Amino acid sequence: MEYHKLIKARYSVRKFSPRPVEDEKIQTILEAARPAPTAVDKQPYRLLILKGTDSVAKLKDCTPYAFDAPMAILVCGCPDEAWVRPYDGQNAVFIDAAIIGTHLMLAIHDLGLGATWVGHFDPAAIRQAYNLPATLEPVALFPFGYPADDAKPAPLHEKRRPLAEMVFYDRF
Ligand SMILES: Cc1cc2nc3c(=O)[nH]c(=O)nc-3n(C[C@H](O)[C@H](O)[C@H](O)COP(=O)(O)O)c2cc1C
Repeated sequence: MEYHKLIKARYSVRKFSPRPVEDEKIQTILEAARPAPTAVDKQPYRLLILKGTDSVAKLKDCTPYAFDAPMAILVCGCPDEAWVRPYDGQNAVFIDAAIIGTHLMLAIHDLGLGATWVGHFDPAAIRQAYNLPATLEPVALFPFGYPADDAKPAPLHEKRRPLAEMVFYDRF
């Protein structure tokens, strides 16, 4: 899909068909992570794919927002690998992982699939359920799959604040 159409058409899909996602599509989605920019090109991320029934079922112990999706991707950051800004010590790992998540989310929608970015999960429960190494920080969860026939955007999707509220200029 053309980029501007894609970013306008995307919405958080929270109701899914049980239809499994084809492996080629999963691969295309994962490939979309690779061109993403990361600070100093450190690429400090790992992607955990939840595909089997048991694997997906465990999500319910970690978040109320699993949406019975047929599969999910968990974007994890690696804080020890990420660039740290020398002036204030800010670690770029969350920014890098968020860009990876955005690439994945748009690729999912571009393929006619749907996803919701889920940040409301219990990190300790996720660590335990999926044996995450201590070096990984779970950042964003994407339950995804084919949208249900009656999936539709939530009211918040339409409520974007006007640009005039968000943009300001340094004119001098
Ligand atoms: C960082 C982040 C965390 C989010 N966490 C959740 C979540 O835990 N559960 C959920 O249903 N939606 C979650 N969302 C989706 C937002 O609620 C949604 O993007 C927003 O309401 C706008 O709707 P739209 O995506 O349909 O345009 C999250 C989005 C972002 C960017």
